[in-house]
Parts: sequence; structure tokens; C-alpha cells
Amino acid sequence: MNIIKLNAIDSTNSYLKELAINNEISSYTVVVAKHQTAGRGQMGTVWLSEDDKNLTFSILIKISNFKVSHQFYLSMAVSLGVLKAVKTKVTMPMFIKWPNDILAEKDKVAGILIENMLSGTAIKQSIIGIGLNVNQKQFSVTLKNVTSLMNITGETIDKEQLLETIVNNIQYYVEFIEQNEFYKLKELYLNSLYKYKIPSMFEENNGAIFLGKIIDISKEGKLVIELENETIRKFNLKEIKFANR
Ligand code: BTN
Repeated sequence: MNIIKLNAIDSTNSYLKELAINNEISSYTVVVAKHQTAGRGQMGTVWLSEDDKNLTFSILIKISNFKVSHQFYLSMAVSLGVLKAVKTKVTMPMFIKWPNDILAEKDKVAGILIENMLSGTAIKQSIIGIGLNVNQKQFSVTLKNVTSLMNITGETIDKEQLLETIVNNIQYYVEFIEQNEFYKLKELYLNSLYKYKIPSMFEENNGAIFLGKIIDISKEGKLVIELENETIRKFNLKEIKFANR
């Protein structure tokens, strides 16, 4: 593992992206920062993390002949890798919340931001950004349903060792993509998915609330929900969330 350690940077994703645009960087190069001044989350949100307490890092991954249409499989592989690594530290039930949040019961411990660099219909390289709450004890009151490994276990966790476990586990699941074992990857992902096949309340972005259950993830990575009347609807990330969270 080729690792670049920084004290402070705006965002490890932005830094690694810039580096990969201008240089030939090997797959599984990792950039880790103690402090991010402009950490980025999904959908234009900000990723907040207490200085030097948590893991904020990015990994460059190159997969040959990787089609844009298969991009959600990388999201599955990364989520599974982070989940497996974190599970070595905690005993409580852990899940992947679609598309790629890592939950301890119902609280978020990690978020993932994947940025792909394309060439035609292929993904040439991907920047995998991971923010994992490790040893932070207190969180802003504005953040709901958030926790850390320290808050769950009561123990201080060795971040360097955990980082290595995460990268190795991600590599393990990315090999499913390299071997074209998409079906297996999806099965593993669905088996770890939060509220999979469990009737739940959802809220659409127009405020409408309905009861349904997640029954699948579409090829494009959309959430497939079966409603009470057995109709099936598909949703993009921006279109839906769990109600009452
Ligand atoms: C989310 O919104 O859940 C995704 C959060 C991703 C945060 C990580 S921290 C390291 C990397 N650099 C960034 O700017 N973002 C990602």
C-alpha cells in the first residue's frame, strides 16, 4: 500500500484527484489527512470530523475494462470492505444504508464519496473517499443519528491498523468486479443492507410518506421498493429517504 500522510488539506478526494490527473498513480495509493478544511460529503454536503480523531482518507482504484454502467458495483465493493473491517471492532449489528453509509444499528459511523474519472463508456480510475468516525466522542447537536467506534466500544482504536484492514478488505471485494462476479457482490451487498425486505416508512422529496420495503437494487444503483399494493418503484439518491430518521 502506497500511502501519503498529510497533516492538513482541503479534501483528500480533491488532493488525490488532482494528483491522479497530473501523474500516473498506482492503484491503491492512499491519501490520509489528520485534518480536512473542506471535507466533502455526498450531494454537495460538508463532511465534518474532529482533528486527528477519525479516519479521513481517499484511495485511488483502477479497474481495467470497467464500464460506467457497472459503477454501482464499486460502491457495493467499497461499502462491503468498510463494513467487514469495522465489524472486526464492534459486536453490535452493522449495516450498509443504501447507497453506501455504514451504520451501527441505526447510527452512521462512516460515509463514502466515490468520484469516477471517465473515458467514453469506461471508468479509468476512481477516487474512493472514506470518512470513518473512530475516536471522536462528541458530535454537533445538528447531526442526528451519528456515532463513532469509540462511543460504541468505549475503547480507543488504533487508526493506522484499521486503515490497513479497510484497504485490504476493499481490495478483496473489488476482486469480485475484476472477476466479473457481479451477481455474488450484489448478493453480499443485499444481505448487509439496512431494512432489506423489512416494511419501512419512506419519504419522497415532495414530502409524501409511504410504506414499502426494499426488494432490490437496480442495475443503475437505484433503490427498488415494493409498495403495499405490490407496485414497484425505483428511486435515485436525491429522491428518497427513510421517514422519521
Ligand atoms: C457522505 O456524505 O456520507 C460521504 C462522506 C465522505 C467523506 C470523506 S472524508 C475523506 C474524503 N475526502 C472528502 O472530502 N470526502 C471524503
